[in-house]
Amino acid sequence: MHRIIIDGDPGHDDILAFLTALAHPEEIEILAYSTVVGNATVENCSRNALKVQDYFGVAIPVAQGYEQPLTRELHLAYQFHGKTGLDGAPFLKESQRRVEKKHAVEYLKDVLLSSEEKIEIVSMGPLTNIAMLIKTYPEVIAKIERLIMMGGCFSLGNALPKSEFNIYHDPEAARIVFDSPLKIAMAGIEACFAGAILLKDIEALQAKGKGTRLLKSILDFYSQYAYKNNWDRIPIFDVTPIMYLLKPEIFRVEQYHVEVEIKGEVTLGMTVCDERGPVYLPEVINPREVLLDCDREEFSKAFFDSFRILDERYEL
Ligand code: RIB
Ligand code: CA
Repeated sequence: MHRIIIDGDPGHDDILAFLTALAHPEEIEILAYSTVVGNATVENCSRNALKVQDYFGVAIPVAQGYEQPLTRELHLAYQFHGKTGLDGAPFLKESQRRVEKKHAVEYLKDVLLSSEEKIEIVSMGPLTNIAMLIKTYPEVIAKIERLIMMGGCFSLGNALPKSEFNIYHDPEAARIVFDSPLKIAMAGIEACFAGAILLKDIEALQAKGKGTRLLKSILDFYSQYAYKNNWDRIPIFDVTPIMYLLKPEIFRVEQYHVEVEIKGEVTLGMTVCDERGPVYLPEVINPREVLLDCDREEFSKAFFDSFRILDERYEL
């Protein structure tokens, strides 16, 4: 059983990742959902996290975190997610629930320190909250089993040629996280593209219950970018770390020491995976799990099946 905290910026793919996890309560228990600025303002990210929960009648605590990166200017991803961060699902109603009174860093610290067992953190947005959590309360590190993140890349970027959005958005935060003793698994761009969903499978999707209804609405909006670029598939980025929890055997993973570039003009936010190996890196004792590839068909099947499971549990 994976006991997890989700930290992210929902966001279409963030929400689909949350729902993929929600479909598997026998394997994943979601203890808390913290939000951070990224795809949209942090207020809108919290609003989205709450309204999706209302739609399914679940009430996982939502704690709101940082509204700015540590030092950089904001770059919201309106072009992919619309002004609300979750455009395209008008039937989702504003929630009457509120975020937790405590800031995400305080809330997560309490959840971690009061837990007898270690907890995994699944990060799906910029690492601002996580960096400040471990910097302010280093004692939580002993309570974190592993940080599994959607972020970074081995080589292929999206924000810049070799930099991924979540890391580029707050590179100083990412540097703090990668310089820490945390155990880290990095689901970067390569693994996300390897698991991309075919547009023909999205077109064939029929809404049969609450799960597939929301899935179809979200994907119809989110996949517009793929149509504009003549792609035949679209990566649902943030689902990748959740899929890694559910089906680790479908991924190809290699171990690397990873450093985050915080000064480069064309490489800001690059996650530099050191390929030189132990001869050059005798001091490195904490390599990261870097996800490089996966079985697309297995990924796609498990992804769509998750929403059919939600359909069975939550009728329209
Ligand atoms: O680069 C992909 C990441 O950026 C995902 O977390 C997605 O939600 C976007 O914000
Ligand atoms: Ca995200």
